[in-house]
Parts: sequence; structure tokens; C-alpha cells
Amino acid sequence: MITCSAPGKIYLFGEHAVVYGECAIACAVELRTRVTATSSDTVTISSDLGTTGLDHEIHPYVSLAIEKMGAKKVSVEISSDIPVGSGLGSSAAVTIATLSAINLEFRLGHKNEEIARMGHEIEQKVQGAASPTDTFVSTFGGIVEIPSRRRLNMLECGVVIGNTNKGATPKKTAKLVKHVASLRGEYPEVIDPIIRTIGSFSKKGEILVKKKDYVSLGKLMNVNHGLLDALGVGTAELSALVYAARNAGAYGAKITGAGGGGCMVALTDSPREVASAIENAGGRAIISHFDQNGVKQE
Ligand code: MEV
Repeated sequence: MITCSAPGKIYLFGEHAVVYGECAIACAVELRTRVTATSSDTVTISSDLGTTGLDHEIHPYVSLAIEKMGAKKVSVEISSDIPVGSGLGSSAAVTIATLSAINLEFRLGHKNEEIARMGHEIEQKVQGAASPTDTFVSTFGGIVEIPSRRRLNMLECGVVIGNTNKGATPKKTAKLVKHVASLRGEYPEVIDPIIRTIGSFSKKGEILVKKKDYVSLGKLMNVNHGLLDALGVGTAELSALVYAARNAGAYGAKITGAGGGGCMVALTDSPREVASAIENAGGRAIISHFDQNGVKQE
């Protein structure tokens, strides 16, 4: 019996712009999905969603992971701290943790690079389209510049996530990516500079991360939020949580992920105050930290 866990992620900068080849900075956070794989007579998958065999409706990511590893006799048990479908990379985390647990349980010898690649293929198959960001960060952890995949220095300050509890499902992500593409098609002279400016935050952000300059990182996160709003992926609920976090003293706060619901993230050294402001504004707050570990055996 082997248990592996893999982290979820937030974007410090760059979602949506990354679709157009601009830089982004994505970070693993201390919210994990744990998967136990045990050699067994048949395939069973147990999670909060119920117990099934291979089931591409209820457990699509885990079913594909089992198939990809060629495991015909395995029992897989899942538990997770990561809210599902909220833009925090829950599907990447369950996929990577499942692939790794099966890899170790059956001594298949796949390296983490292969686990990340297989995880990305699974996300693409289930979602139609997916960037490799979530599966890469979930496999290797840390703070990562995309597309170079360069690892940046760790940050020690607190991270508070605010969930609007309005699902940011993969389907919604695709819809929002399409929305930005059509706005760009309509007004390229307006939208292209916004996308390039969002990309520039990561280049500046890399230096600020090195210096651990939380004040300046926060300021740029705030501007990034404004530009995501300008692209039409914000919601009133997300902005209410963002403003509540800033008013409670966060260095900065912004949407994380595709937007249209889902989560925002705040950088702060007073996580309890920021979390309670987010709760008072109607969100569900999660206090977390950056996590330098990717997938690991528990
Ligand atoms: C969604 O988490 C992030 C987007 O940039 C889409 C992607 O990179 O695949 C909106």
C-alpha cells in the first residue's frame, strides 16, 4: 500500500496571458490531495463522490490514470484539501498523486518528468484543452515561471485563498479563454497591450520574488487583478473578496485561475485578519503557504 500526495496551485501573475505565450508565475500551495494505491483483486476508486470501478463520468482523471499505468488490479482511495473545480488545480493534483502512487505500488519506475507528461495528457483528454502548468507545478512543487519552467526562490509570507463557491469548472475555463480570444479578435489594438502588460508582471515579479519584496509583489498583483477585470473574467463576488483582503492589510490580492467565479488569492503577513475579512465578505477562506514540495510519498 502506497500513499502519495500532490499539491494544488495558485497564479501569482499571468493567467490568460500565458495562453498567448506570455510569462506567468504559478506556485504550489500547501493544500494537498492524497491518494492511496493498494494492489487488489479488481479496480475500485473511492472518494467523496462515492465508490466506483473504472468510471469516466464520476472519476474521469483517476480512471484514465489507472488505464495509462496499465494497472488492472488496484484499489485507489482519495482524500483532498483542495476544493474541487475552483481553479486551484484539484484535477491535476488528483491525477499526479494517482499516477505516482500506482507507479510506486507496482514499481513501474517512471520518472517525475514522465508522470508530469502523462498527467498533462490526461488533463487534455478530459478537458479538451489544458496547459501543462497545473500538472507541472503539482509534480515538482515550488514557484515556477511559465513557459520556461524555471524554479524561483521560495516566498515565506502567508497565502490566503478566498473561494467564491461559484464553480470555476474546466468547461467554464474554456468559455472564459474563448471570451478573451473573441475580445482580442474584436479589439486587438486594445487587448494585445493588456495581455503583454500582464506578461510583463512575471518578468518584474521574478526579480521581486528573489528580493522577497512582498510590498511590490502585492502592488503588481493588484494591477494584474484590474487587468483581468478589464479582460472580462472578473465577477462582483471575486472583487468583493479581493477588496476585503486588501482592506484587511494584504500586500495584494487578485483572481487566481480562469476567473468567472472560483478563487482569489491574497499575499499577506496577517493571514488571520485577511481570512476573516474574506469570510465577512461572503467567501470561504483558506489560510495556506507556498509549498516547495511537489508530489511525494507520505
Ligand atoms: C486557468 O487556470 C489558467 C488559464 O490561463 C488557462 C490556461 O493557462 O490553460 C486561464
